Amino acid sequence: GRQFFVGGNFKMNGSVKTIKDIVSHLNSAKLDESVEVVIAPPALYLLLTREHLRQGIEVAAQNVFDKPNGAFTGEISVEQLKDSNITWTLLGHSERRVILQEDDAFVANKTKVALDGGLGVILCCGESLEQREANKTIDVVTSQLKAVADKCKDWSKIVIAYEPIWAIGTGKVATTEQAQEVHAAIRDWLKKEVSGEAAEKTRILYGGSVSEKNCKELAKQPDIDGFLVGGASLKPAFVDIINANQ
Ligand code: 13P
Repeated sequence: GRQFFVGGNFKMNGSVKTIKDIVSHLNSAKLDESVEVVIAPPALYLLLTREHLRQGIEVAAQNVFDKPNGAFTGEISVEQLKDSNITWTLLGHSERRVILQEDDAFVANKTKVALDGGLGVILCCGESLEQREANKTIDVVTSQLKAVADKCKDWSKIVIAYEPIWAIGTGKVATTEQAQEVHAAIRDWLKKEVSGEAAEKTRILYGGSVSEKNCKELAKQPDIDGFLVGGASLKPAFVDIINANQ
């Protein structure tokens, strides 16, 4: 089986004090030991988080740049993350695709550079409401993933996060059927376009208004291998989401 994976994306939230509080809550919580847990605080707090967080929980950046160093004001490199014991990065989050106008090719390039540098990548994909209503969900998601498959053959350090944009921060979670349908389609696509092994082993997370209330039903779906949690990852209830299978 695939190891259940729960990521916490803090987005642009938190302060020294609140992030220390979240970390100490996680440090003392009883977490399902079979679950891989990774939290992604804002870049400014990566080192602080790594310093205070107990071993066994990993830290992710929310983004990384695709150049090794140099005159790239405001950016952070893969080497700098590794130097700070940050082992994962999110890439292709819809907020970066939409607000910061990152395209598929840029996301794919950054994924390649991150993987080549030894980071794990939580690769986000997902459709807008308009695209869903036009029945384009599977096309949109698979073309986002295809840009990465064109550059990266080894998917062993990629975790896919399917996050329908209309479900992010809206309280409007996808139904278990809606999520399972897309996850199964992604796995099918992996089998055809990457490899049978990638289809079998790649974790596919669901993200978008995941809460302690809806996580258990979602976790029962055969192709949902965990969650990428936004708002609820800042709250004590994040622990209940990590423990969704108990
Ligand atoms: P919410 O859980 O706040 O809907 O955010 C989901 C998300 O975008 C995680 O990356």
